[in-house]
Amino acid sequence: MEFFLDTAEVSEVVEIASWGILDGVTTNPSLIKKSGRDFKQVVREIAEICSGPISAEVTALDADGMIAQGLALKADLPDNVIIKVPCTDSGLKATKVLSDQGIGVNVTLIFSAAQALMASKAGAMYISPFIGRIDDTGHDGMALVAEIMTTWKSYRVTNTKVLAASIRHPQHILQCLLLGAHTATMPTKVFKQLVKHPLTDRGLDDFLADWADVEKAGKA
Ligand code: E4P
Repeated sequence: MEFFLDTAEVSEVVEIASWGILDGVTTNPSLIKKSGRDFKQVVREIAEICSGPISAEVTALDADGMIAQGLALKADLPDNVIIKVPCTDSGLKATKVLSDQGIGVNVTLIFSAAQALMASKAGAMYISPFIGRIDDTGHDGMALVAEIMTTWKSYRVTNTKVLAASIRHPQHILQCLLLGAHTATMPTKVFKQLVKHPLTDRGLDDFLADWADVEKAGKA
C-alpha cells in the first residue's frame, strides 16, 4: 500500500519523509488555509522533498476553469504534482481533458461507488473516498471502500488507484489494508500512531535494562 501524508505543513513532510516510507502527499484548500502560507510555494517545497505524487487542488467550479487551473499548476510546479478535482460533472469533464493530456488527476470528495467508477472512466489516476467524513455522519465509511474494491474487481479496473482519505485512526488503515486499497492518505498523527506499539516500547525497555546489567558485569 502507498502511504501518503495529508498535510500542507512542510515540516511534517520533512519529518515523515525522513522515515523513508513516504510515497506521496495530499493537500486541499483547508489544509493550505491552516498553513497560512502561499499555495504554490507550499506545494513546490513539498514536491521537492517527496518525489511521489503531490496533489494540488483546483477551486474553479466549471470544467473550463478547472482545466485552466490544472494546466497552470502543471506548468508552474514540479513534474510530480498531480491535479485534484472534485467529483462533479464538471470535475469529470476536467478529468477527461487533463488525463488525455497525460496529467495525473486525483478525483476527490468521493462518497459513492458509482462516483468512483465514473471518475475512473473519465481517466482518474486516483479516486479519494472520504472515510472519516462518512463515519462522522453516523454511517460506515469503510463500507464504501469495500464497495469500491468489489467494483474494481468486478469490472477489472486497473487504471485508477483507490486512495483512502479522511483517515482518522490506525484502524482505518488496517481495514484498508485488508480490503486491498492501493493508497491511503493520513495526517502525521496517524503515521505516528501506526509505528508505535506499547509492547515494542516495553520490550525495548527490558532489553536495555538487561543490557545495562551485562555491561555492569563487564561482559559487553
Ligand atoms: C484528502 O485528500 C483530503 O485532503 C483529506 O483526507 C480530508 O480529510 P478530512 O476529512 O480530515 O478533512
